[in-house]
Amino acid sequence: MKVLVLGSGGREHAISWKLAQSSQLDKLFVAPGNAGTADIAVNVDLNIMDFKAVKAFVLQEAIDIVVVGPEAPLVEGIKDFFIADPELTRTTLIGPDSKAAKLEGSKDFAKKFMERHNIPTARYETFTKSTLTKGLAFLESLKPPYVLKCDGLAAGKGVLILDSLAEAQDQLKAILKDGSFGKAGTKVVIEEFLKGIEVSMFVITDGESYKILPEAKDYKRIGEGDTGLNTGGMGAVSPVSFANAEFMEKVKNQIIIPTIKGIKKDELDYTGFIFFGLMKVSGDPYVIEYNVRLGDPEAEVIIPRIKSDLLHFFDGIASGTLSECDLEIDERTATTVMLVSGGYPESYEKGKEISGLSTKGSSILFHAGTQIDNGKVVTSGGRVIAVTSVASDLDTALENSFEGAEQVQFDKKYYRRDIGKDLQKVAQKA
Ligand code: AMP
Ligand code: GLY
Repeated sequence: MKVLVLGSGGREHAISWKLAQSSQLDKLFVAPGNAGTADIAVNVDLNIMDFKAVKAFVLQEAIDIVVVGPEAPLVEGIKDFFIADPELTRTTLIGPDSKAAKLEGSKDFAKKFMERHNIPTARYETFTKSTLTKGLAFLESLKPPYVLKCDGLAAGKGVLILDSLAEAQDQLKAILKDGSFGKAGTKVVIEEFLKGIEVSMFVITDGESYKILPEAKDYKRIGEGDTGLNTGGMGAVSPVSFANAEFMEKVKNQIIIPTIKGIKKDELDYTGFIFFGLMKVSGDPYVIEYNVRLGDPEAEVIIPRIKSDLLHFFDGIASGTLSECDLEIDERTATTVMLVSGGYPESYEKGKEISGLSTKGSSILFHAGTQIDNGKVVTSGGRVIAVTSVASDLDTALENSFEGAEQVQFDKKYYRRDIGKDLQKVAQKA
């Protein structure tokens, strides 16, 4: 089979790394890819939001399967474009159509979906400019902290958690009246704050059957001890000790099954990955958000734990036989430590030469923001390289990831040295 992966981050490198190991693979392309994917696939210089350009390449290379890494092309309708075009019928695109992608692209759509299908989530109401007064009053009825969510995609910055009522009311006015978040803030979901611990769950689905992939914990803040600004993710660990069998059973019965049934009942065209951002509150799972893709850097720890052939699953989606595919998971622990450019998530420099890429010990290096410049591998983004290790226990995996993180060098490299440490403490207590 010929496969095209769309995207250029660590997630897409991890997906491509796995696909490259498949006996069913004939040729692998990544658009636009990075210096890491260039080692295992053919990078294609395509703008993945230009669906006509993607189509032309798919036809030129007779691509069988297109795997969409990030959410933006899905929310903008790349699946709808493929479905509607008779020239593209022999190609399967793995991902939901634009309506189903609203599970990520519209917080209000996702909350209504959860309400309709009895999926546990924080109590909420949605407001617009014309219902601003009611929104201000609703805030008064809640206890702090206050959670405001812009309805649309806002580059991961559309969720505000505020301690004071006055601040929350000011922000609500700024978003709805002054348009501080532009179109993404035309509607605002206000919801109850859930106090608990977060875990990310993933499934792969053809819209009817599903396979549960390994869970992961992501470290979102830039600073050690979970301080400072939010980032795309500074590291991840899988499995997650507090997601024990009893909790996972609840997740399956109260969240995964109702979500799959809801997708079918609402006749949503959904294939591909579902990412459940969950909060464990007093032992029970609640959905914080849906994403219609794999997480990044979660993919860098989940994919290495999948023993089965990932392409077999994509082929199962294409042929309607996903339910017959066997999913085998590696019981060992995977950890990833993200090396980022100094200054990230605010401004940072690019084009720094990266060295030490071949002396990485036992780690796998998933490139996130790299490119090849005059034959050299250089930084091209905030998140640069995810250093993944798989080992029989968390301590060893972390040790190996931190060792790899030291080996890889570039000017102003930064990484969090406390990834996974909270889980080590939990493990010691248990
Ligand atoms: P989201 O973009 O919906 O994932 O929200 C970003 C982050 O805000 C989440 O990862 C949580 O840490 C936090 N968050 C979102 N909603 C809530 C909530 N209802 N209660 C507590 N924390 C929340
Ligand atoms: N790591 C969180 C995300 O991919 O959205």
